[in-house]
Amino acid sequence: MERGGKKRPRRGKVVARANELSHGMTKKFWLRCQGRTVEGLLVSYERNLCAYVNRCRHLSLSLDWVDNHFFSEDKRYIICANHGATYEPTTGECVWGPCHGAFLQAVPLKISGEKILAFCPEPEEMESL
Ligand code: FES
Repeated sequence: MERGGKKRPRRGKVVARANELSHGMTKKFWLRCQGRTVEGLLVSYERNLCAYVNRCRHLSLSLDWVDNHFFSEDKRYIICANHGATYEPTTGECVWGPCHGAFLQAVPLKISGEKILAFCPEPEEMESL
């Protein structure tokens, strides 16, 4: 919503502490966005932290069958447990599988001191969730 030509700042939700996750670890979280609950996953890969909506781009299903198990055995890729779509951890791009070339829906993050904050995706990006 805009007032006076300025976007209202969105409030972030603290989803983790800095240094909580090491390489190859994930953590699930939930956001309330436009009246809906959105499940996200925080991903630590090498020295990067990324977050995505926990929805495969093949079918609208959660990526994990076993709770919070997203990485391949070698911790190189994020794998959808349903049909094996394989995603790059830092970009969310599907590099193998039925949704090749599609991207996981990114969840904006901000690091504030020791806190990792997650924000709802932009409203227009919510339409596809
Ligand atoms: S639902 Fe993820 S690969 Fe089919």
